[in-house]
Amino acid sequence: MSLYYRPTIAEISLDALGHNIAAFRRHMPTGTLLMASVKANAYGHGAAGIAREALACGVDYLGVAFLDEALQLRRKGIRGPILVLGYVPPEGLEIAREQEITIALFREDILAAIAMLPASAQRLKVHIKLDTGMGRLGLLPEQDWRGFIRRVLATSGVEVEGVFTHFARADERDKSYTRLQHDRFVEAAEYARAQGVPIIHSGNSATGIDTPDWAGGMLRLGISMYGLYPSGEVEGSSLALQPVLRLKTQTVMVKSAPPDWGISYGTRYVTSGREWIGTLPIGYADGYSRMLTGKAEALLRGQRVPILGTICMDQCMIAIPGDVAEPGEEVVLIGRQGDETISAEEIADHLGTINYEVTCMLADRVPRVYVKDGQHVADNRLLG
Ligand SMILES: Cc1ncc(COP(=O)(O)O)c(C=O)c1O
Repeated sequence: MSLYYRPTIAEISLDALGHNIAAFRRHMPTGTLLMASVKANAYGHGAAGIAREALACGVDYLGVAFLDEALQLRRKGIRGPILVLGYVPPEGLEIAREQEITIALFREDILAAIAMLPASAQRLKVHIKLDTGMGRLGLLPEQDWRGFIRRVLATSGVEVEGVFTHFARADERDKSYTRLQHDRFVEAAEYARAQGVPIIHSGNSATGIDTPDWAGGMLRLGISMYGLYPSGEVEGSSLALQPVLRLKTQTVMVKSAPPDWGISYGTRYVTSGREWIGTLPIGYADGYSRMLTGKAEALLRGQRVPILGTICMDQCMIAIPGDVAEPGEEVVLIGRQGDETISAEEIADHLGTINYEVTCMLADRVPRVYVKDGQHVADNRLLG
């Protein structure tokens, strides 16, 4: 029995994932820990499959956005250390402690709630979050960083494992703002280190690539673990990253449509002569946005072909070159086929967004199929 019957899949190369992790290991100062950011379903790549493989590749920590994402990984048997980078409400603190999930701490009231937890032999691990200029989570410098760190250290039942911050503009060529944030962080980082806090961290992919010395003791690696660059302004060539994801499908109906034949809703495309049209079982409900209508191309037989007409909820149509066609040919919507590539960046440009959003958009109903050495080794239907 197959676990899915649709030829549309996101093929996830575990070889590429391993290559990218190894590239960062070589690139970072010796001893730097690596956190694999697997939030948002591992940027659309399937959280459990990526988490498991990243840990097997020697990654030291996993990062998620919310406690629910961490618990889901635990339910799927992922045992490695997990840091929740975002907010954990008071009602989540006990289960976080029980499940050995580390939380980001940046509010006095949450510290007070931790102090009120029922006694336990286990301590709740926390990483204190400081806002050095991202303006999102974290305490401002005027909120007395040293005092807060001291109070957390003095709270029983808490283990202060880390102190961290996040850079807002690390992916820009001009590093002056990142330098400013880094300089603000240094003093607090030194204080925390002197108090015995072991992991002081401040870097994302862009930091790792361009200014590895500013990442601190652990690089929080997201987009570039998936083989994509945080922006066109980072100096990534030395890492030679490999994209991990290919979005592919097959033609499920091909027809030689007569002249003047309308294609898809609104008949935005009308054939001019007799034209071969292929129907693909993928649409906007899969995360292949309707806003790509009239813009996107696909790869068929290693060549670019246009998507014709409106992208529907579950399907869209392509032009098929030549005189004859049979259904069942492979079509790639993101990734390489032969010598041609459609990158996540190309799709992002059509949509006026960034590559991160393109892979994050891929819907749950698209099976993630994990491939290693050319072999299908797992899929997220099996991983649960
Ligand atoms: C706090 C934090 N650290 C690290 C990352 C990873 O960033 P990137 O995907 O740019 O490597 C993110 C992602 O947005 C984040 O929010």
